[in-house]
Amino acid sequence: MNKAEFTRRRKRLMQMMGESAVAILPAAPMRLRNRDVEYQYRPDSDFYYLTGFPEPEAVAVLIPGRKHAEYILFCREYNPETATWTGHMAGQEGAVRDYGADDSFPIDDIDDILPGMLENKQRVYYTMGTHPDFDQRLIGWVNRLRKQSRAGIHTPGEFVSLDHLLHDMRLIKSTQEIRAMKKAAKISAKAHIEAMQFCKPGTKEYQVEATILHSFMQQGARSSAYSSIVGGGANGCVLHYTQNTDTLKDGDLLLIDAGAEYDYYAADITRTFPVNGKYNKAQRAIYDIVLEAQQAAFERVKPGNHWNEPHEAAVETIADGLVKLGLIKGTTKKAIKDEKYRKFYMHRTGHWLGMDVHDVGDYKIDDEWRVFEPGMTLTVEPGIYISSEHKGVAKKWANIGIRIEDDVLVTKDGCDVITSDVPTDPLEIENIMA
Ligand code: GLY
Ligand code: MN
Ligand code: MN
Repeated sequence: MNKAEFTRRRKRLMQMMGESAVAILPAAPMRLRNRDVEYQYRPDSDFYYLTGFPEPEAVAVLIPGRKHAEYILFCREYNPETATWTGHMAGQEGAVRDYGADDSFPIDDIDDILPGMLENKQRVYYTMGTHPDFDQRLIGWVNRLRKQSRAGIHTPGEFVSLDHLLHDMRLIKSTQEIRAMKKAAKISAKAHIEAMQFCKPGTKEYQVEATILHSFMQQGARSSAYSSIVGGGANGCVLHYTQNTDTLKDGDLLLIDAGAEYDYYAADITRTFPVNGKYNKAQRAIYDIVLEAQQAAFERVKPGNHWNEPHEAAVETIADGLVKLGLIKGTTKKAIKDEKYRKFYMHRTGHWLGMDVHDVGDYKIDDEWRVFEPGMTLTVEPGIYISSEHKGVAKKWANIGIRIEDDVLVTKDGCDVITSDVPTDPLEIENIMA
């Protein structure tokens, strides 16, 4: 993302906010993993989306129409001693020179400076509840202003959730964002292929995970977008399995859900393949239904269609397939109406994708499903999960957990599958593994 992209975003948001408004965005705090050990820092996506500023201990303030500075960045003061411990920091000079702030102040001075910026403004755009400590400080500043009302100072009367404006912006991706997402998709697809080539019976799930992480980083992605799911056999039926500690067994399937983060944008891919390189008959039967469901869902992702249409298409295919195999009794129509398919397909067919793997953006507007528009990005990820806990199911189906997940960009007349470098065709997968 270049500097102009962040400037454009701030300008657009300020246009929507109008005059007499202030937006306040704190950076996410550092988090401890355990005593003295911090997690790798990753800025909050909303904050980064508007600033491109990678450091913790920062607060961005936007004041549309303010004469000498509309964009003010509070951040750490440059200090050579601190820099010895923490590495480079922008300081006030860098905030202006490199990150486009009109003005910058040390974060330690925020209590003295920020309340004055709220004076005589009507609306404060802020997201409550994400950073509770900061919520308290903001309330404190506002209360301080209230006490000065006799001196003729007005306190902002409205607190408006920043989410609505900002998340609507984040939902439609720009050219630069699409480029980053395609790169994340490409890196992730290659890593999945390498995992297929590496996998064999006797391997530990975390060794396959290591192959994926190695591939991400070798290709220039610093980290995953989320904890990888590498689940063999029964573990493939556990939707959020991330222990990845079991040994992979001959005859089992392996479900891998892993995606890289590249320049703050996520990919999210799932493939399910046989540990020994060859699907057995039962596995293929289920696999083919899931693949068909994904195709049916892709066809429904296009401008004018609404959010739930791909899901409805996937459900129809899955319910029909399970009825035909005898895994659901009765008719397809009844299986859908009574939601009998949910025993085997208990999640939805996708979610928005972007800086966050489960990205922001409303799925409904005024109780109506949102309509697809070009520039939206989402996952399409149907699955069928048959665990040994399912009663009355023949043994040959037990521990078959299959999900196929790809990332798509809504285009003018349909959608573009940006993760298609890693095949979903079962024969092609067997070829890669051979
Ligand atoms: N990897 C999380 C998901 O597929 O939603
Ligand atoms: Mn997903
Ligand atoms: Mn996923």
